[in-house]
Amino acid sequence: MPTPDSSQVSLCQSAGFQQATIVAHEPIAEATWRLRVDCPAIATAARPGQFAMLRIPNRQDPLLARPLAVYDVFADLADPTSWRPPAAAGSQPAPTDRRYADFVYAVAGKFTTSATALRPGDAISLWGPLGNGFQRPVTDHLVLVAGGIGQTALLMLGRDLLAHSPTSRVTFCWGARHGGLFGHVEDFRAAGLDVHLATLDGSLGTQGTVIDLLDRLEADGNLARREEETTTIACCGPEKMMAAVSRWATTRGLTCQVSLETPMACGIGICFSCVAPVIDKQGSWDYRRTCIEGPVFDGTAIDWEAMA
Ligand SMILES: Cc1cc2nc3c(=O)[nH]c(=O)nc-3n(C[C@H](O)[C@H](O)[C@H](O)COP(=O)(O)OP(=O)(O)OC[C@H]3O[C@@H](n4cnc5c(N)ncnc54)[C@H](O)[C@@H]3O)c2cc1C
Ligand code: FES
Repeated sequence: MPTPDSSQVSLCQSAGFQQATIVAHEPIAEATWRLRVDCPAIATAARPGQFAMLRIPNRQDPLLARPLAVYDVFADLADPTSWRPPAAAGSQPAPTDRRYADFVYAVAGKFTTSATALRPGDAISLWGPLGNGFQRPVTDHLVLVAGGIGQTALLMLGRDLLAHSPTSRVTFCWGARHGGLFGHVEDFRAAGLDVHLATLDGSLGTQGTVIDLLDRLEADGNLARREEETTTIACCGPEKMMAAVSRWATTRGLTCQVSLETPMACGIGICFSCVAPVIDKQGSWDYRRTCIEGPVFDGTAIDWEAMA
C-alpha cells in the first residue's frame, strides 16, 4: 500500500479540524506550558487517555498537527484564566456542561516551540478527541505512574475512577530528571490522589527513577494495604520507562495499561507513521496504529524489544 505524503495527510486532516480560542496559556514548569481552549466539542467528549491533534492556524511549518493528551476539562468557569484546581474530586462537571479543554506540553521541537508565542485570544486548530483512551479498570487501588510529561494522560483517569467506581484510592507516582520539571502537581492532590515524586538528581522526592519509587512504596507497605486489595497500574512516559514499569507490574502479577507517545503524522489511521509492535493472544505480533488502536495498550502486549 503506498504511504501518503505529508501534503495528502494534511489535506485529509483538514476535514476534522475546528478552530478554538485560547483563553489561557502560561509556563507552569521548566520548558512546560499549559494551554486552555474554549472548545466544548472536545471538552464534552474527551475520555481519560484520549488526545487531540493540534495545529497553529495559517502556518505551514510544521505542516502536520501534533498529538497532545487532553489533560483536563472544565465547565463554564467564573475565571477561565485561573489554573486553580476544583476544590474536590466530586466537583467535576457533567460531561454535557463541559466547555474548556486543557493541554500541557513540554517544549520539544517545531510545534511546541512555535506554540509558546500564542496568546489568549489567538486561535488554534484542534481535532479530537481521538484514540481509545484507558479502559476503566475494576480495582481497589489504582497506581498511576508518569515519567517526564506523561502525567498529562493520567489526571482525568485518577479523578474519574475515584468519583465513579469502586476504586477507593489512587496513588500517583511521577518521575522527572529534576524538581523544576514538575508543573501543577497540586492538580493531582486536589483530585484526591496520593502523590509521590521521584527525581534523578534527588532535588525533590525520592532520588532515582519511578521504579525506585515503586520499590520504596512497596517496601513501605503502601501498594497493598490489605491482602485482598486489588491493584492496577496505568502508565505514561518515555518508552524505556514504560517498558520497565510494565515489567515491574508483570513480575508482581499486576495489570498495567500503557499510553504510548509514538510520533504521529495524521492521527486518524491513514499514514501508518505511528505503528507499534503489538503481540496478540496467539503470541505472534503485528504492527498496530497507536492513533486509532491505541494510544493505550496492555503493557504485556507491547513487544518492548522491538520498540527500542
Ligand atoms: C497520544 C499522544 C499524546 C501526547 N501527549 C503529549 C502531551 O500531553 N504533552 C506533550 O508535551 N507531548 C505529548 N506527546 C508528544 C508530542 O506529540 C511530541 O513531543 C511532538 O513531537 C511535539 O511536537 P514538536 O513539533 O514540538 O516536536 P518535534 O519537532 O516533532 O520533535 C520532538 C522531539 O521528538 C523527536 N522526534 C520527532 N519525530 C520523531 C520520530 N519520528 N522518531 C523519533 N524521534 C522523533 C525530535 O527529535 C524531538 O526531540 C504526545 C504524543 C502522543 C502520541
Ligand atoms: S498517525 Fe497516521 S496512522 Fe496513526
